Amino acid sequence: MTSIVRGRSAVNKPDALSRDMASGRALRRYSEVMALSSPIWFAGLPARFIDRLRWEWREWHAPSLPSFQHEELDHALLDLIPWREGERVLDVGCAHGGYLRQLADRNVDVHGLDISLESLNKAKSVGRPLVAASGDQLPMRDDSFDTILCHKTMYLFSTPEKALREFARVLRPNGRLVFSTSATQSPYGLAQSAAVRLFGRRNWDFGNRLGPKAWVRLASACGFGDARFYSCNLVMPIVFRVCDRWIVPNEWMRRYARLCRRISGLPIEGVHPRRLAQDYFVTIRNLPVARHLCDDRANQQLLI
Ligand SMILES: C[S@@+](CC[C@H](N)C(=O)[O-])C[C@H]1O[C@@H](n2cnc3c(N)ncnc32)[C@H](O)[C@@H]1O
Repeated sequence: MTSIVRGRSAVNKPDALSRDMASGRALRRYSEVMALSSPIWFAGLPARFIDRLRWEWREWHAPSLPSFQHEELDHALLDLIPWREGERVLDVGCAHGGYLRQLADRNVDVHGLDISLESLNKAKSVGRPLVAASGDQLPMRDDSFDTILCHKTMYLFSTPEKALREFARVLRPNGRLVFSTSATQSPYGLAQSAAVRLFGRRNWDFGNRLGPKAWVRLASACGFGDARFYSCNLVMPIVFRVCDRWIVPNEWMRRYARLCRRISGLPIEGVHPRRLAQDYFVTIRNLPVARHLCDDRANQQLLI
């Protein structure tokens, strides 16, 4: 009976079946059923392997869709950080335009900028203004944006102070910079630093290695102030990547993250970054101060 049904659907609907397989739905169904029905970790290993393949497949076609550790960042960025209707926002490093779309849906006047033409071509479908340029050389007028968003891109600047000065120039006085950064002092961050030192930047380039506090110090020297931190992925430094999706299914990691938040009981937003978080969003205001004063202070900061 089963084989007849299978045979019929394969013969009558070959396109539907291949579409189903291609979108990963069949794999998802299989992995979800297997993950739920396997209380012992090794019995669920094939399902988790498939879960991982499915995630890689999805990232390949639409990068940065939320996985368990991106969900907290998305929650902080889109739900906790306030966005005003009509606010002029520049998304530096907008890639395929995932956040352009999300912010446009909130009636934000968002513009995208990226160094990669290939990414910008994909972002065209969002229908927002796009600019191909480097974030540390913005082809924009002074005082022309209310907010600059720089998500998962700050670490890519080889001259961070240059990018910050450009952000300060393009932002209106009292405009804000919203950026994400990771814990460089976490076990995972320290392992990355060790890999960079051991193998050199050519093989292991994890960027400029500035953590949240270092970014805020540098930004202060470039005329920013009043930083607020949104600490995400609490206690992840201890398990993050060690217990990757490969070993522990996404859903278990989500529950673990929720539990950590509940036990700690502390709000994720505050004037200090929380030590046991893996990732941070920082909002910082462009103080209306003379720019030439900031240049000297930024240079001094870099010498420290
Ligand atoms: C990891 S992706 C982050 C994309 C997006 N912001 C997100 O969160 O999904 C980093 C993006 O920064 C872009 N990028 C790298 N260096 C850049 C630079 N100097 N100026 C502007 N964009 C840059 C890359 O092309 C890439 O699209």
